[in-house]
Amino acid sequence: MDTHVETTADQAPNGRAAGDDSAFEVFDDDVAGDVRDPYPELAAARRAHPVQRLDTSNMPHADDAAVFFVYGYDDILEVLRDGRTYSSAHIIDMLMGDIMGKHIILGMDDPEHRRYRALVSTAFRQKALANWEERLIEPVADELIDRFADRGRADLVTEFTFPFPTLVTAGMLGLPREDLRRFQRWSIAILGFHTNRERAIVASQEVKEYLAEILAERRREPREDLISDLSRAELDGEKLSDEEIFSFLRLLLPAGIETTYRSTGNMLYSLLSRPDQLQALRENRALVPRAVEESIRYETPLLNITRMATTSTVLHDVPIPQGSTVMLMLAAANRDESRWHDPDDFDIFRAPRPHMSFGQGSHNCLGIHLARTEMRLALEKLLDKLPNLRLDPEADDPHIRGQVFRSPTALPVLFG
Ligand code: HEM
Repeated sequence: MDTHVETTADQAPNGRAAGDDSAFEVFDDDVAGDVRDPYPELAAARRAHPVQRLDTSNMPHADDAAVFFVYGYDDILEVLRDGRTYSSAHIIDMLMGDIMGKHIILGMDDPEHRRYRALVSTAFRQKALANWEERLIEPVADELIDRFADRGRADLVTEFTFPFPTLVTAGMLGLPREDLRRFQRWSIAILGFHTNRERAIVASQEVKEYLAEILAERRREPREDLISDLSRAELDGEKLSDEEIFSFLRLLLPAGIETTYRSTGNMLYSLLSRPDQLQALRENRALVPRAVEESIRYETPLLNITRMATTSTVLHDVPIPQGSTVMLMLAAANRDESRWHDPDDFDIFRAPRPHMSFGQGSHNCLGIHLARTEMRLALEKLLDKLPNLRLDPEADDPHIRGQVFRSPTALPVLFG
């Protein structure tokens, strides 16, 4: 099958010669900030006031609307299941409309959201993923690891966790191999939109022009890739417009690459810093899916999402006026002691229960199966290929950091 990100022995998937072990660039991650452990503060807030009103009226440039922080699992679930009272539409204006376009699924409400989601979701079903797993995800993981497997040491962030979902996404889109460096540069610019908005807007425009050519080609001659699938997708005789397709494809950079890169790093750090659990995993690979899920619960890469109240309402006895912003603290919900025993313990043996890291309700993560598959394969391949994998004891204090997005900036490891 033609993946258009061939992983042949003589050329690495980033367009460099195989054996060239120069690291991938990683985007500027200043936005994550230096907070090492936000969890004690989140737990204290959840216990003191599960729904907390923060008045912004005396802050400079703020409008009069209040902001409400929601910390408990059940309260967040209530909000996410009620898209009529708690809308997503503000996301387009407030966050990313000028970068991602106006048709992003994240910022749609029903009925538009239902229709659009039905059109794009086929490509992300579990069945479709089995195909991607074999022809793309596994070969990309193999090739990245093989580039440093003989070296005895590596930084898993620059050499593995970041390039892995970037190349998987490029492969799913069916981008020609010679364009991967450009695609990576655009991804980095768009992912860095929090720190450099202008650069992200320019990259977003360039990506759109680039994808327009590819889309036109796929409309003429469809292939087995996501762009061809989207160009053919049809619901009640209706198809996606070009603009809708571009918006969706651009959203895949932050939605699909950034979250997965961070969560894979979080999983590896959580396991490498607990050698007993890593050893248990080596001895019983059946535990891998549990380790993946526990990692995503314990250290979510994205700590909060927002909604806006379309009408005045009440949540956990707290009145919420129409127009208020509601911040859903997913990370706090994932450590809710009314739902998990010892929630602050990382424990791959615990029975999995739905958590909040992928959201819930109608906007729940479309890439949930893809993310789990990438993380599972990452872990299996690293354990297969790198015996005695461990954190480098001489390394300069690797750790997870961040308050809105979280992941390790470096993961220096030894093996062999
Ligand atoms: C561990 C990795 C991931 C995490 C933690 C994550 C998290 C989330 C969350 C919390 C939402 C809900 C946002 C909201 O309700 O406002 C979401 C939605 C979404 N995610 Fe993911 N995501 C991950 C991986 C992926 C991947 C790999 C893809 C696709 C390639 C993806 C594509 C999307 C899309 C398209 C949506 C919007 C769905 C909608 O609005 O209906 N995500 N994700």
